[in-house]
Amino acid sequence: MSKKQLNLFLLSMVLCAGTYAQKTIEIATKNNVLILETDQEQSLLSTYLGKKLNNSEEYPGIQKLDKYKPGSDDLLNKREAYIASGSVNLLEPALSVTHADGNKSTVLAFSEVNTEQLDQNRKLTSVILKDPKYNFRVTLKYLAYYNENVIEQWAEITHNEKGSVVLNKYASANLTLSGKKFFLKSHYSGATREMRSEEAQLLHGIKTIDSKLGTRTNLLHSSSFMLSIDQPATEDLGEVIAGSLEWTGNFKLEYETFDEYYVRVTAGINNFSSNYTLKAGENFVTPRFVYTYSANGKGEASRNLQNWARNYQLADGKGERATILNNWETTYFDFNDEKLNELTKDTKKLGVDVFLLDDGWFGNKYPRNGSTSGLGDWQYNRQKLKNGISTLGKEATASGVKFGIWIEPEMVNPKSELYEKHPDWVIRQPERKEYYMRNQLVLDLSNPKVQDFVYQTVEDLFKEVPELAFIKWDCNSLIYNAHSPTLKNQDHFYLEYIRGLNNVLERIRKKYPKTPMMLCAGGGSRVDYAALKYFTEFWPSDNTNPYDRIFIQWEYSYYFPSIAVDNHITDMGKQPIKFKTDVAMMGKLGYDVRVNELSKNDLLFSQNAVQTYNNFKDIVWHGQQYRLQDPYENKIASIAYVDEAQNQVVIFNYYVATLFTNGVILPIKLKGLDPAKKYKIEEINLYPNTKSPIDKEKVYSGDFLMKVGFNPEVNSNRTSVVLKVQAQ
Ligand code: DGJ
Repeated sequence: MSKKQLNLFLLSMVLCAGTYAQKTIEIATKNNVLILETDQEQSLLSTYLGKKLNNSEEYPGIQKLDKYKPGSDDLLNKREAYIASGSVNLLEPALSVTHADGNKSTVLAFSEVNTEQLDQNRKLTSVILKDPKYNFRVTLKYLAYYNENVIEQWAEITHNEKGSVVLNKYASANLTLSGKKFFLKSHYSGATREMRSEEAQLLHGIKTIDSKLGTRTNLLHSSSFMLSIDQPATEDLGEVIAGSLEWTGNFKLEYETFDEYYVRVTAGINNFSSNYTLKAGENFVTPRFVYTYSANGKGEASRNLQNWARNYQLADGKGERATILNNWETTYFDFNDEKLNELTKDTKKLGVDVFLLDDGWFGNKYPRNGSTSGLGDWQYNRQKLKNGISTLGKEATASGVKFGIWIEPEMVNPKSELYEKHPDWVIRQPERKEYYMRNQLVLDLSNPKVQDFVYQTVEDLFKEVPELAFIKWDCNSLIYNAHSPTLKNQDHFYLEYIRGLNNVLERIRKKYPKTPMMLCAGGGSRVDYAALKYFTEFWPSDNTNPYDRIFIQWEYSYYFPSIAVDNHITDMGKQPIKFKTDVAMMGKLGYDVRVNELSKNDLLFSQNAVQTYNNFKDIVWHGQQYRLQDPYENKIASIAYVDEAQNQVVIFNYYVATLFTNGVILPIKLKGLDPAKKYKIEEINLYPNTKSPIDKEKVYSGDFLMKVGFNPEVNSNRTSVVLKVQAQ
């Protein structure tokens, strides 16, 4: 070898030692991409989440530009895609494990990546990470929905160590985002005060939003959020992530803001009181965390999630829905055969599809005449319903409508035959005082016998009422004194409860795939995308005051499509029936009114409204939603739904001013139209004998309506205005 050759050889050796096989993994949707990449030590880093680059060869360049060194050059935290504790990463981990030998350190190194194109729209990427010392592995799963710009992310954890390992923390996902500042839009709630919203800058440290309530886990906080980068995203501007954990049980969302430019989001099951003992060979699958990135504000992020939900998650998301007359707020527990028969006829008179019989129809030894007794005894009350529920079903059919029923099968009143017969089915601490929420306790769904009982309750209903066409599934208590009388490892209690619930719902859906089911938890305390896989819709709140509802529905719309939101017209609120109806139409319209007490005009208006709704409901249920004007910042709130072909639009406008004002002064700019098309605008859903000031013959271009806008002429005399925009 000549001296020159030797030098070249040595140089190439040096270069080789300094390079490594950097692996770049693209999780791509139509507009966006998440980049994962390995480093010298085969750690898997997440280097980028944002708009796709034109040239994918440039992705490997990102890692070098990000001088990620939180705190100090000597601090070795890495920008890992899924952070395990006990080694180099000292910030909040996603995974914390006690190995079979008692060691508490886990290192995850990249092993392999597999991709599977499930269909034209969905691609699943599985990244296998292994611990070099332990026979322990985590597979990170990324399911990308191309057209919807949505990613579902979760982790699968398994091992073959000598003995069991304990998972002390096992989040679904970690996301590290860079930016100058971060703003979190989150939601706090209470019964009748659901989805109150606040948005604030995340200051340094960890902000945790979680639930330890067991059931009704969204009672205090929502498991859905929006996180803006650099500044709070507006409806159409700014970078934002919208996310939601698909889990009906205790959840934990953590936002750790560190150094000057980073936030790390960790989303998963709440590990509170829930160390999980994982046997060798068992595969632990975390719930999915669904998220979307938008560079164009919160509106686009919401539409992404809404489209994903309708296309893939919500039960029968692309299908039809039944309109309902419910008796809860008109009768409460006080009814009998005769009254219900009248209500069935009223259902027909109003023109809606289903009569839904609510709470109070069951219990004999302990009749369900109030909230203190009967829960768990799912036999019809022979005093109130002399002819039984099967007759109610038949009467409904004879009246030309359908019949639905309320159940709360996860619960029991201490004053019930079920409690007397099966005290061992009840969640409580054997040596402690019982505490109740709404006079009831929760059944132990971690017990397979209880699962069978709940399933059987539903099956028996279908046997008794074969024409059963709707189920409202309520859940009014959270879990105090969490303890299963039968479960061996109480650390698994919260998890096994939800697994039990999911088993039951899975069985019900297998047998009755088509029956619409409403998810209710004393209002909207259980609105999550895991449950909505089984339910066609949810009851957002017992607060049906239409003024409050504008805000409640507005907030849910950040994450959930209108087809899933049940809005009923009730006695609540002093607004006229027209206002109430217009608000309820902005989703799944329903009634909880005494039809026989409506004035002649109110009845006529309502009958016409149902017909009007039937003509445009498809646009509200399946179209694209645009929040045009924010009720928090304006005197008029405005929301539009545009059909896929951009030919038809329905716009709902409401007067929300609390002080007297002149109403809409400036036109409201429309969104989502075709600028090249011509449109006419007509006011619809008018109250009898009223005239609209809006000229329905005038033609506007889509361009004009989106740049200049349109004035719906809402004011203190015209407090709600519904417009139908039609392409010519
Ligand atoms: C709470 C629900 O939110 C109400 O709509 C009603 O179904 C009651 N439970 C019945 O007890």
